[in-house]
Amino acid sequence: MSTSPATISASGSTTDRVGSLADVHEAAERVLPDLPTDPVMEALDLNVYYGDFHAVHNVNLAFGRNEITALIGPSGCGKSTVLRCLNRMNDLVAGARVEGEVSYHGQNIYARGVDPIAVRTQVGMVFQKPNPFPKSIYDNVAYGPRVTGMKVENMDDLVEEALRGAALWDEVKDKLKQSAYGLSGGQQQRLCIARTIATKPDVILMDEPCSALDPIATSRVEDLMISLREDYTIIVVTHNMQQAARVSDRTAFFTARPDETTGNRTGLLVEYNLTSNIFSNPNDKRTEDYISGRFG
Ligand SMILES: Nc1ncnc2c1ncn2[C@@H]1O[C@H](COP(=O)(O)OP(=O)(O)OP(=O)(O)O)[C@@H](O)[C@H]1O
Ligand SMILES: [Mg+2]
Repeated sequence: MSTSPATISASGSTTDRVGSLADVHEAAERVLPDLPTDPVMEALDLNVYYGDFHAVHNVNLAFGRNEITALIGPSGCGKSTVLRCLNRMNDLVAGARVEGEVSYHGQNIYARGVDPIAVRTQVGMVFQKPNPFPKSIYDNVAYGPRVTGMKVENMDDLVEEALRGAALWDEVKDKLKQSAYGLSGGQQQRLCIARTIATKPDVILMDEPCSALDPIATSRVEDLMISLREDYTIIVVTHNMQQAARVSDRTAFFTARPDETTGNRTGLLVEYNLTSNIFSNPNDKRTEDYISGRFG
C-alpha cells in the first residue's frame, strides 16, 4: 500500500536564489530531520480524479508536527486538490474521486465509517478569499464551537482566546457585535483564522491565504502563521515563493505533465525537501527552473 515519501537530500549550498533568503528564512534556524519523524498526516499513493480526468498522480507526502509545509507549483498542478484531500473537502466537489490513503495520526481518514465533519474539526481550513459569515465578529468565531456542539465553559473567553491567537483581539475587542463585513480584508482573513482555531483543530490547511491581501496584511498573516506553528501543524498552498521561503520548514514542489494521448495535464509531486534545500539546492531541474522563474 504505502510507499515512502519522495526522497529528500540534506545536502545544502549557501547560494540563495530567493532574494535575501538567508536573512528572512526564519524557519532555516530550526534544525529538522530530513523527513518528519512523527508525521501528523501522510498522503499515501494519493490519486485524484474529476470524472475521467486524472488530476493528481500518486502523491506521497508526510507532514511534520508543529511544522509549516508549503505546497508550490504552477497553476493547475493540483495543489488545491491535494490540500482538499487532507480534510475531505473534495467530498463536496461533484465528480471528485480520491484513491489512496490520507492518514491522520495513523488512521486513514478515507476509511469506511470515518465522519468527514469530525475530520474537518481536527483539520481546519482557511481559504484564499476571506469568507467571513454575514454575522457579527463574535458570532463568526463562536460559530464553529456552537455547530459542532463543543463543550465550552465560557464562550466569551473562547472567542477572546481565538481572536488573540489570530492576532486580531486588540483591533476588534470594542466592536465584537459589529458585522464582520466592516473589517478590512486582512482583518477578515485573520478573523477566518480565529474562526478556524476556535474549534481547536490540530492541523490548519491554508489555500493561498494571502493572495487577496496587500503586503502589510500579508506580512501580519505570515507572522501569525509562524506563531501558530507552536501549537498547530500548518500546510499552506502559495504562489508566492518568498512567502514559502519565509515561513515554511518544508516545501513540496508540484508540476503538471501532459498525457501523451489525451494531452490532459496531470499533477505530480516533483520534489519534497527542507525549504532551505529546495530554494538553495534543488535536486530536480524542474524545481530549479520554477524557483528561478524560468517556468510557471
Ligand atoms: N471541480 C473540478 N472539476 C473538474 N476539474 C477540476 C476541478 N477542480 C480542479 N480541477 C482540475 O484539476 C486540476 C488541478 O486543479 P487545482 O485547482 O488543484 O490546481 P492548483 O495547483 O491549485 O492551481 P492554482 O494554482 O491555479 O490554484 C486542474 O486541471 C483543474 O482544472
Ligand atoms: Mg489552487
